[in-house]
Amino acid sequence: MARTSRDAIAEIKAKLSMVDLARRYVELRPMGSRLVAPCPFHQETKPSFSINADEGTYYCFGCQAAGDIFDFYGRINGLDFRESLEALAEETGVDLPKFQKGDNFAPKQVSHKQEMMKMHEIAAHHFKQNLQKSELVKQYVQERQIAPEIIERFGLGFSTDSWQALTDIFKRSGFNLDIGVECGLLVKSKNGRYYDRFRNRLMFPIRDVNGRTIAFGGRVIPSLDDGESAKYMNTNGTPIYKKSQQLFGLDVARRSVTAQKSIMITEGYMDVLTLYQFGYTNAVACLGTSFPEEQVKRITELSKNVELLFDGDNPGREAAFKACGKLLVKGMSCHVVLFPPEDDIDSLLKGKGKEVFENLREKSTEGLNFCIQTLKKRSPKDAVEWSREFLGQIEMPELFQPMASKLALGLGIDEAELRLGVVEQKKAQSARTPLQTSENAKQTAPKKKTMDADILTVATRYPHRLQTLQEMGADLILESPNAKAYWDKLLHYSEDEILAFLDNAEKSFWVKCRSADAPPRNNEEGELEAIRHLIHAKQKKSYVQSVITAVRESGEDSQKAYLRALYEAQGRNNV
Ligand code: UTP
Ligand code: MN
Repeated sequence: MARTSRDAIAEIKAKLSMVDLARRYVELRPMGSRLVAPCPFHQETKPSFSINADEGTYYCFGCQAAGDIFDFYGRINGLDFRESLEALAEETGVDLPKFQKGDNFAPKQVSHKQEMMKMHEIAAHHFKQNLQKSELVKQYVQERQIAPEIIERFGLGFSTDSWQALTDIFKRSGFNLDIGVECGLLVKSKNGRYYDRFRNRLMFPIRDVNGRTIAFGGRVIPSLDDGESAKYMNTNGTPIYKKSQQLFGLDVARRSVTAQKSIMITEGYMDVLTLYQFGYTNAVACLGTSFPEEQVKRITELSKNVELLFDGDNPGREAAFKACGKLLVKGMSCHVVLFPPEDDIDSLLKGKGKEVFENLREKSTEGLNFCIQTLKKRSPKDAVEWSREFLGQIEMPELFQPMASKLALGLGIDEAELRLGVVEQKKAQSARTPLQTSENAKQTAPKKKTMDADILTVATRYPHRLQTLQEMGADLILESPNAKAYWDKLLHYSEDEILAFLDNAEKSFWVKCRSADAPPRNNEEGELEAIRHLIHAKQKKSYVQSVITAVRESGEDSQKAYLRALYEAQGRNNV
């Protein structure tokens, strides 16, 4: 039989254990029969993160995160299952089979996206070649002291002044040009003609964490500039590129970030390149300075230490201030390095050298201190308001006290008053939250006791006995729609692959049933027997109930017959 993705998954799991993978990111230590560590997915110092080596799964008793190597790798690197599978297959040297019909892992509804990716791959290659062919652009790159290795490593290119070069390549290769428009590489004019969007620019490919080009940033080249275009032209949001979820340079920096446990965040493409050239290989650029929540989340998953390298001008300071607030409430450690107004990282490193840069880094300001400095320049009222808002958002209770003290001291305000302000603000907020909707009222209503959890526990622990359970009628007894949906997944997917198809709550249920603190799975028959007994009791109860109802509702003659049936049932079943 042909190899399937399922086989590949099993092969990867055989080559890369949960323990070895987790060890790269957390310090594991033995506790009883388990290996534990502080959880990499939420902020803590206690070792709530626990590995079940036999099962190849992890579970966090604190945040309930749970899964296998693919899930772990995906959470750490912000990848979906398919991307984790590809990355770990490559790392372990396991070939992924070509997707076939009915393959659970065949990418769903990706043909458009795949075409967009392919178009970006072709475009990146085309731009690269253009750069090598253009003396003028090579000269510009040289003037900017961008080393050839950097051009290669970051895949820089050049879009010529042609309106048709890329369009023609796509046309010749039979691509759907509208998809080229949709992913931002082409433009369609009013009269229906297609043309290249990027022209006369130095091209920076923007790649996802796996190094696949998903967008471009194009910089004007001064000698080719008409003086009217924006300095950078970037791909806007497309189906394969969500700006808020990406960081420029992450594909290159990821390993260093993990190894050094620290990440540098800059504003510009050029800054990332220059930092790399000078040996700072853990730098990424936020694409635009607004620092959206998704990027913050991604950064917190990558590293707990952040160095913010921003321009020393007002927008740069403002951006650093906002970034600090967002990182600190998540328990991150951050430092701000500001550059003199006349320089950015690129010009400073290349113009003044590494030593000057290192001096600036040494003088970097700790994040909360930086916030205090910034707030001191504002009105006391603004400062207090900001502080309350900030303290109210702190996610780790243990950080509240030290941060409140530091803010109060730094801003010269009364700490007790500040804290009281936070409490009052929270009260006001909760008073403002809408009354329970019927939807969440339903959720909080006491739950009728069902057998769903009992059945699903056994089904999860012994998936090879699903048929036995079905023969008992277990699946017909399931009551909640969630339970039925979960049962269907158990039926549909093998043990090796199922975690890829469960939502977070289901994953944590699955792992809890099989590991965490669950009893060992050495009493299969006993557990199945217990379920059989429960089902039996339930069936009996409902049978007896239906007879009683029938007796109540029937005439005198048939009552006798029903009563006989009832006694028989009781006799036979020993009620
Ligand atoms: P900068 O103007 O500081 O450019 O914008 P830079 O990165 O230092 O580039 P060089 O050194 O002049 O070549 C910082 C970042 O802001 C975005 C780009 O991501 C840029 O790298 N930007 C800037 C735009 O998207 N569009 C613009 O017009 C300008
Ligand atoms: Mn610059």
